[in-house]
Amino acid sequence: MSGDNGGVRAPTVPRLLCSVLPPAGRVAFPELVPAPTVSPDSPDPLPPPARRGLILLAPMEGLLDHRLRAVLTRVGGVDRCVSEFIRITDQLLPERVFLRIVPELRSGSRTGAGVPVRPQLLGSDPACLADNAARLAGLAPEGIDLNFGCPARTVNHHRGGAILLDEPELVGRIVAAVRRAVPPSVPVSAKMRLGFQDGSRTLECALAIAEAGAQELVVHARTRADGYRPPAYWDRIAAVVEAVALPVVANGEIWSVADALRCRRESGCHNLMLGRGLVADPALALALRAHDTGGLSESLSWHDLLDLMADYWQRVAVGVEARHRPGRLKQWLFLLQRRYPDAARAFDTLRRVGDPRDIAAWLAAEARAGH
Ligand SMILES: Cc1cc2nc3c(=O)[nH]c(=O)nc-3n(C[C@H](O)[C@H](O)[C@H](O)COP(=O)(O)O)c2cc1C
Repeated sequence: MSGDNGGVRAPTVPRLLCSVLPPAGRVAFPELVPAPTVSPDSPDPLPPPARRGLILLAPMEGLLDHRLRAVLTRVGGVDRCVSEFIRITDQLLPERVFLRIVPELRSGSRTGAGVPVRPQLLGSDPACLADNAARLAGLAPEGIDLNFGCPARTVNHHRGGAILLDEPELVGRIVAAVRRAVPPSVPVSAKMRLGFQDGSRTLECALAIAEAGAQELVVHARTRADGYRPPAYWDRIAAVVEAVALPVVANGEIWSVADALRCRRESGCHNLMLGRGLVADPALALALRAHDTGGLSESLSWHDLLDLMADYWQRVAVGVEARHRPGRLKQWLFLLQRRYPDAARAFDTLRRVGDPRDIAAWLAAEARAGH
């Protein structure tokens, strides 16, 4: 995937981890549960997102690709995904690049579980971004998201990602150019950090994005200088919510339902985007939705997780070079350790395993052991 994105490396996952959370209980996968029967007169069992707050799955280049999106959205609770960024430099990309990074475009811009996926573009040239957005729009994406938050040195060096937050006027021109280039039926959204070095221009950037006609704004509550170091400054999103008329989505350091509720309180945003928290606990969105709708909250057992991992492993076998496959599963296990003590044990066992056949054998043995 790094080839698709100009060799940009995402931050290494291990540095992102903190504490281990208590073990989980058991839940059946939603698709295995009969859908509730709704008579024409009975109320909708699930209030629309506008009333209960959207739950978005964050873009995470190098960690969360279409394979993991497919698996995580099977669990349920996610209203929409944003794809990892597609880097635009000075060329009009062929359709096959968009389709390789976001293969969901071949199936109505939805994952197998039916969750919409919005491709994300990253670049700094308004005209080139507009041309690429127009081509992407031809593939009928659910929407187009624009990245103003990437902290990677290579990207920032080429005037892309978070460094643009020092140039609110350019941010506005990018959003306006893309908005103009795609049909009105295609929503255009943006994702920003609070700033590059500091938060002194947060509102200028948010206003530029809003005035340029974006339909939604995700704010990762940290500056580029903050990197991924906790905390996330949720309270600083509140000023953005006050300043702009468009829907704002709060993001950063939401690892539990309690975090989500505190983030909502401090940011004033009901809409949330979950990243590492959902990878660490794939039932987090489901639990939050259960909280919002007064439903029953259940978590996934380690055995459920093994089913998900087996599914992921099969998907990784298609299109990922054999030598990179073990790393993919280990990355996920590394984050799962936060929530599942069994994942810590598994990570320890697999730490030095580099042969995909050994991973497959381990998965089969764990499944037989019936943990
Ligand atoms: C490995 C990794 C890759 C990321 N890639 C992207 C990306 O492609 N586009 C983007 O807008 N944000 C990206 N992000 C930022 C996340 O979308 C999110 O804003 C950040 O992780 C904070 O949310 P969290 O604490 O819920 O993980 C990435 C983050 C990580 C950890």
